[in-house]
Amino acid sequence: MINIKSSEEIKILREGGKILASILSEVARKVKPGLATVELDQLSEKLIRKNNGEPSFKNYKTRDDRFSYPASLCVSINDEIVHGIPSKNRILKQGDIVSLDLGMKYKNLYTDMATTIGVGKISDQAEKLIDVTKKSLALGIKSIKDGACIGDIGSAVQLYAEKNGFNVVRHLVGHGVGYKVHEMPDIPNYGSKGTGLKLKKGMVLALEPMIVIGSSDIILDKDNWTWKTKDGLLSVHFEHTVAVTRNGAEILTKIQ
Ligand code: MF3
Ligand code: CO
Repeated sequence: MINIKSSEEIKILREGGKILASILSEVARKVKPGLATVELDQLSEKLIRKNNGEPSFKNYKTRDDRFSYPASLCVSINDEIVHGIPSKNRILKQGDIVSLDLGMKYKNLYTDMATTIGVGKISDQAEKLIDVTKKSLALGIKSIKDGACIGDIGSAVQLYAEKNGFNVVRHLVGHGVGYKVHEMPDIPNYGSKGTGLKLKKGMVLALEPMIVIGSSDIILDKDNWTWKTKDGLLSVHFEHTVAVTRNGAEILTKIQ
């Protein structure tokens, strides 16, 4: 079953999404060479609590209940795709690209968002991968409206990424969100137009393209959380929480 959120619930998600976006911007502004990634996590948690939210990734359990995510923020650097664990031993350096992924429970409803930024000066190729991933998310969002299909989103993301010479990660997907961190349906970043489940007004979705320079093969790190590219090449990740409307999509995690 796919949850449909009421307009009152979407109002709260909009409020929470705005707060989450401003927190993530503030955290992103701290990124600089020499900083330990744990400091970004601590700031994220502090700002979420100050705004009467709860960090929704903290203690998040894997499906089999064996592992629990230890932080509020995911920090994934270079060949790390998603779910990198912040650490006092992980120091950002000039030229890195860093994905920051943050989720918040606010008034009992969940929003989810990610952005990728460079640390100091980065390569032209990294710059292009960031631009293309950001644009692919925008195109995915643009394909949404009541009556469109899940495949329309994936198709828009995939076509733009591949047209620019990059590949989409297929093993990891976007998702419904709102009552929980992850809800049905899955939102793949590949697909064919006009296929898959029909979108309906009131669905709330987290779109999160993960785009890579090389092969889309991925591996799970021995920490049991961090997904990385198998070939060690760069990966970029952007995410927004959006609500399906009659004639489009409203970005709930909008940057002010
Ligand atoms: N935005 C990430 C996702 O949808 C959040 C992961 S939650 C974690 O996969 F707890 F698993 F890190
Ligand atoms: Co997500």
